Amino acid sequence: MAGSNKTNPTTALRTGITPPRWLLAELTYACPLQCPYCANPIDYTKYQSELDTEDWKRVLTQARKMGAVQLGFSGGEPLTRKDLPELVKHARDLGYYSNLITSGYGLTEEKIAQLKDAGLDHIQVSIQASTQELNDHIAGTESFQHKKDVAHLVKKHGYPMVLCVVIHRENIHQMPQILEMAEELGADYLELANTQYYGWAHANRDLLLPTKEQFEQAEQIAQAFKEKVAGKMKIYYVVPDFYEDRPKACMNGWGTTFLTIAPDGVALPCHSARELPGMDCPNVKDYSIEQIWYESLTFNFFRGFEWMKEPCSSCDEKEKDFGGCRCQAYLLSGDMYAADPVCSKSPNHHVIQEAIDSAKASALADNEKPLIFRNSKNSRLLS
Ligand code: FES
Repeated sequence: MAGSNKTNPTTALRTGITPPRWLLAELTYACPLQCPYCANPIDYTKYQSELDTEDWKRVLTQARKMGAVQLGFSGGEPLTRKDLPELVKHARDLGYYSNLITSGYGLTEEKIAQLKDAGLDHIQVSIQASTQELNDHIAGTESFQHKKDVAHLVKKHGYPMVLCVVIHRENIHQMPQILEMAEELGADYLELANTQYYGWAHANRDLLLPTKEQFEQAEQIAQAFKEKVAGKMKIYYVVPDFYEDRPKACMNGWGTTFLTIAPDGVALPCHSARELPGMDCPNVKDYSIEQIWYESLTFNFFRGFEWMKEPCSSCDEKEKDFGGCRCQAYLLSGDMYAADPVCSKSPNHHVIQEAIDSAKASALADNEKPLIFRNSKNSRLLS
């Protein structure tokens, strides 16, 4: 096997490692939108090569054989891949429950019908705001009316209507209107995802992070609406971890459940893992999914508890949150082994308050710097 530094024979016994359940296929980094909170890596332009159709089919087959049941097609914008219907059909033949995670941009009634015939189970459409002006500003592309038309078509073709709105300081004041819009569009599920500060969102954090008061007010509005539409629409409110005092159990624990494949074939335990120092993530062109999942150093890096240091190693909550998010620990403290600074027990917890204060100062500044939109020009500038 090439690149022997990527495997760890001591873990080849596979004791106690459960197989992946969720496979996220990031088909491409190409995207017509330019959202400033995109979770793709800032330097995505460095990874231009994409797996071909046969590579993806092999990956899907191997992961399904191991036990993966849920499959997300995402990106970038997965609709830019011409072979999407063929991959959906392959996923259906393998018995996956498949989900298309899309901006809706470029989705037509004909394509929706084609994907339905191919066996797609679920479409999640993102929308940026409740008004054309703000939606198109955040998306960096005129797309509001098209997204709403797509939402109606998704419903018309018998899919569950899943709407996703990423919440941040630019749109949090629209919470009542966003909820009404979701109801009008006939959404069965509404995901209100407070921005997670990785990738482009990390670069734009001063401009995107709302105050605690804004979060609390928005949450109250969403909770009240949840009761009003109970039985008709389900609302998931993804809590903002910057205002929590315990970290999230990121990825349900590293290498336990989730497997992400980046457009160039790099296999990741989470979408940001390739940004961690020395991670040298394996590629599906060189290894089987089984080798990658059980034997690669990357997937074994933060499995279990041995890698932890204090305060995580002696913490009685470590089996609940696994020390929080490794990528957030690295981004905020420079140490990927440290407790996630979101945790109030972390010696680095002060950086969270500093980030909140910095965002507040930015909002009050007369000449607040502009958002950095996710596009190839900015990617090259920042890489
Ligand atoms: Fe990488 Fe949380 S995003 S561990």
